[in-house]
Amino acid sequence: MVKVLVAGGAGYIGSHVVKALLQNGHRVTVYDNLSSGQRINLFPEAAFVEGDILDFATLDKAMAGQDAVVHLAAKKAVGESMEKPELYAENNITGSLNIMKAMLKNGVENMVFSSSAAVYGMPEYLPIDEKHPLNPINFYGYTKYDIEKYMEWYSRLKSFRYMALRYFNAVGYDAEGSIRGREIGSQNLLPIIMDTAAGRREKFSVFGTDYDTRDGTCIRDYIHVTDLARAHVLAIDYLLRGGRSASLNLGTGKGTTVKEIVAAAEKVTGRKLNVEYAGRRAGDPAVLTASSAEAEKLLGWQPEYTDIEEIIRTMWQLEQ
Ligand code: WQD
Repeated sequence: MVKVLVAGGAGYIGSHVVKALLQNGHRVTVYDNLSSGQRINLFPEAAFVEGDILDFATLDKAMAGQDAVVHLAAKKAVGESMEKPELYAENNITGSLNIMKAMLKNGVENMVFSSSAAVYGMPEYLPIDEKHPLNPINFYGYTKYDIEKYMEWYSRLKSFRYMALRYFNAVGYDAEGSIRGREIGSQNLLPIIMDTAAGRREKFSVFGTDYDTRDGTCIRDYIHVTDLARAHVLAIDYLLRGGRSASLNLGTGKGTTVKEIVAAAEKVTGRKLNVEYAGRRAGDPAVLTASSAEAEKLLGWQPEYTDIEEIIRTMWQLEQ
């Protein structure tokens, strides 16, 4: 039985990862400060340590005896990271260094890290593969890039192996309804659309209608969180089998426009959404799509959810 510490395991992606690990027979300890993670997302089959990744003593204690770490404890609001870089440096970078220090101290050698497509910045070609240059254009993306570099150095210098998973746009919820803690205050497109459809929000804006795309709105690669979660389980198995450290994209390779998302959401919810067409948002590339060929090669991973309506249905069911 593999013992896995999941930092950030009460959060949106983390709770899905915990479910997938438990389903695969792993013994899980969730480590979370509940700043954005929620108690309702905890599984009774997993142990829980309420702690901050900045609190080394608590982290050190929780790390003892683990075989691997999945690290998803981070702040992730792009706009906020540009206003409060010091907050993001402390939480994301110092916090990750603390986790790695506790791993070295306790002889825990394997880490699966929650990275992001934000490490690439503006795409130079599409779909983006892992050879694409890394030029983050916001501080959030920089923190993920920086942590990947630390992991790379540690893997050269110490008994330390990692798998950085670069998520594209994570969406959806567990289709079986096991995860009840809807993300609160997310500024991402689909959570905002769900808030609007459910009546918690009056309207929302589509940022930019003059992009060089099929309908003028931005194209993104929306990947279901259950597919992401499965990749973490595969990554743990891969590292424990002795696989080499790597960074991998996780996306579907399929691009969907904002207008297509809105249309699909209206169809799934049966509600007409109050949409305002606004100007472009700074820093938004027109198109972002992933090549996940490397994840397929190394992990045998492929997304199972490819239909955006089906993905949105897994979000809408949480409102029923
Ligand atoms: C999606 C599309 C917007 C809100 C961000 C981070 C990225 C990663 C995922 C963490 C874009 C449009 C959005 C709205 C809109 N995060 N939009 N109206 O920007 O692709 O990616 O989250 O790792 O690093 O940058 O996601 O959901 O904000 O936007 O029209 O109110 O929806 O312009 O085209 P994004 P998003």
